[in-house]
Amino acid sequence: MASKYQAPRGTFDVLPGDARARRRIEATASAIFERAGYEPIATPAFEDTELFERGVGRSTDIVRKEMFTFEDKGGRSITLRPEGTAPICRAYVEHGMHKLAQPVKLSYAGPFFRHERPQAGRYRQFHQLGVEAIGTDSPLADAEAIVLLSDLLTELGVPGVELRIANLGSPGSRRAYLEELKAHLRAHETKLSKDVRERIEINPLRAFDADDEGTRGVMANAPTIVERLEGEDAEHFAEVRTLLEAAGIDFEIDPTLVRGIDYYTRTIFSFVCDELGAQSEVGGGGRYDGLIEQLGGPPTPAVGWAAGIERILLALGEAEEETGRDAFIAVADPGRQREALVLAIELRHAGLTAEVDLAGRGLKGQLKHADRLGARRVLILEPEGSAQLRDMQSGEQRQIDPVDLVEAIGGERS
Ligand code: HAM
Repeated sequence: MASKYQAPRGTFDVLPGDARARRRIEATASAIFERAGYEPIATPAFEDTELFERGVGRSTDIVRKEMFTFEDKGGRSITLRPEGTAPICRAYVEHGMHKLAQPVKLSYAGPFFRHERPQAGRYRQFHQLGVEAIGTDSPLADAEAIVLLSDLLTELGVPGVELRIANLGSPGSRRAYLEELKAHLRAHETKLSKDVRERIEINPLRAFDADDEGTRGVMANAPTIVERLEGEDAEHFAEVRTLLEAAGIDFEIDPTLVRGIDYYTRTIFSFVCDELGAQSEVGGGGRYDGLIEQLGGPPTPAVGWAAGIERILLALGEAEEETGRDAFIAVADPGRQREALVLAIELRHAGLTAEVDLAGRGLKGQLKHADRLGARRVLILEPEGSAQLRDMQSGEQRQIDPVDLVEAIGGERS
């Protein structure tokens, strides 16, 4: 049965068809996370603004343009969380999780907020689910995280997904490369977009992400960090690739891959879906070995990702179908309404789905409503204590003692 609820475009209300689909996504994710030992965590919807300025990075679009930042009544600057990794790292430091056995493996889902120009797949309030493995620099953790997202998208049936990976090196080894990239950008400065030109010094990597023709032309022959990787960074990258191959995960190395957040080191990855148009990434993430220290904790390597629930929904297409009801209890005699409700409750306690009329309909109206709900069986409580059980598909009807109802419906449940 298709969903009867249609939310007009541009509203933020999640009506039942979509809400059901979201629940399925979250339930599928929770089961996958649990099987791999990622425990759930939740952090508040807002944090001190400084957490994101320091964590996400002052030169990013998120911090420069997209945060919902307010002053609270105590004059503190607070920001609706634009992402979940910095808050989880804050919680890791604040609660002394470095004293636990490492790594600490966490999973989460919830609303996030970015003041972006809304379009299909890009909203100002959106929902992410994700994982973080904090306290390990092992390439096993990178591969484990990537496989979790791959498994999720596969299990949900998201079509046309491709995985791209790259490696940004570690901050020390990246320095020489960044100088080389800046020199390349400066040499072609006049062809670059204003945004890229302004950020040559503070965030030259973002030039790979620009969509204007001038910048793209310049970036076509820009040096890439993947070509410059050496020593432990190169070994780490090679090991992640070997592990993905061993796990049977297809991927493409994309030397131009960059992400919109500053904390990444070494591995970065992105799952894109060709069903999604311009906002083609369903989920992505990477390693962020310096973030915990930057937030005041001990040096702690970590890796994780987040996926956009709305983007998964878009890629999947249809809203979730209703599943109908096992039974509807109708009354031909209004005097038996109480009994009808008690019977429905009994069925529910037995794990079946059952409804009664709550709108005072006549018998004909009740049967019509039962049909609309997709009820597979209707029990009709008649005057003088008798009852009929009707199979809504075959139209067959037989006398039944309501005492046997759970067994009759449970036993016949297909
Ligand atoms: P992100 O790439 O900014 O990473 O966002 C992750 C995912 O959230 C995207 O792939 C996309 O599906 C979804 N998303 C982002 N912005 C929007 C929007 N405005 N509307 C709808 N969906 C959106 C992070 O947030 C990192 N915290 C991921 C991570 C975790 N890295 C390491 N650990």
